[in-house]
Amino acid sequence: MLDIKKIREDFPILKREVNGKPLVYLDNAATSQTPQQVIDAIVDYYQNYNANIHRGVHTLSQEATDKYEQARLKIQKHFNAAKSYEIIFTSGTTHSINLVANGFSSLIKKGDEVLVSAMEHHSNIVPWQMLCERTGAILKVIPMNQEGELRMDVFDDLLSDKTKLIFCNHISNALGTINPIEEIIEKAHKVGAAVLIDGAQAAPHLVADVQALDVDFYTCSAHKICGPTGVGMLYGKEEWLNKLPPYQGGGEMIAEVTFEKTTYADLPHKFEAGTPNICGGIAFGAALDYMNGVGFKEVAKYEHELLEYATQELLKIDGLKIYGTAKNKTSVISFNIEGIHPYDMGSILDKLGIAVRTGHHCAQPIMDFFKIPGTVRASFAFYNTREEVDVLIAGVLKAKSMLL
Ligand code: ALA
Repeated sequence: MLDIKKIREDFPILKREVNGKPLVYLDNAATSQTPQQVIDAIVDYYQNYNANIHRGVHTLSQEATDKYEQARLKIQKHFNAAKSYEIIFTSGTTHSINLVANGFSSLIKKGDEVLVSAMEHHSNIVPWQMLCERTGAILKVIPMNQEGELRMDVFDDLLSDKTKLIFCNHISNALGTINPIEEIIEKAHKVGAAVLIDGAQAAPHLVADVQALDVDFYTCSAHKICGPTGVGMLYGKEEWLNKLPPYQGGGEMIAEVTFEKTTYADLPHKFEAGTPNICGGIAFGAALDYMNGVGFKEVAKYEHELLEYATQELLKIDGLKIYGTAKNKTSVISFNIEGIHPYDMGSILDKLGIAVRTGHHCAQPIMDFFKIPGTVRASFAFYNTREEVDVLIAGVLKAKSMLL
């Protein structure tokens, strides 16, 4: 059992008011809040050992390097990667996906096929479209049904020996659907295709074991999992990371530079050009420590209870429709009330101190599928409470009475 009262004490921001009301933060799918333990790690870095890494012989540089590499080991352990150098620090999921998509330019050719799911974030669509434009490869879409679940029967039909790459999110940011990535990976490998899983929305809710999944690439951002913005990780199997060319050139990623020729550093540095987000990487490690201290099993169970309660209470409201009703989903609820624009609902909720996201959630194809301009999205974290769900319901009812 989670001690929610105690957990909430860890998050200073949860004590603040917004528009004169206690903050009810239900925009966790956009970014999670930051516990004091992670804030302390950030302050400690800047107060005590701020220095560039992998470069200096001086003490501060060595301390910063040690902490940064310890954070890499924490990430390796958390995701159960076989080798620490299979973990690349990036600026976040978008950077990770672009790194892989760019690298595949030299590994893919005209007529090859790449599959993407119908419920992707734009960051897992656009880089692949750009790859296809560069190479002449063909992008095909795994469709979804009205519940917001992938049509695995169509996926089977789409797979062939032409399929080279498959991209799918582990959990949909707009609908909350948990996708059957185990099945996708297994079937992809049977036709020789590589799979990249966008774990941005999954990382705060569950632990992905990259070796058990046998996934080729897995990526997430620290800020969704109680860490800071501007840092994330890309896991890649060693064999794939060795096949991909570097993404950016610069310091750190080289072995030797002459004007005639440059040779590249070994993994992981080959993909880490320039001074990285050192403090962010260290704080990412602190965030994983914090989350593992809370316990992912307990988090998943508690968030599921919040999801069920919020779903049941929202559905009592006349004219309210939930988008994304998959059997297997996490604590994200996208909804609309007939006749009310999501933006108007979100604005009134904000006046009541309730933070939700409104709009297309960077997933326009999903909105097109449901023929709507956008949704109101409430996304819950382990530090939210049933009382906050009640405040949301009261707020939605109040907004409805004002707008209709
Ligand atoms: N991808 C983030 C969201 O879903 C920003 O809100």
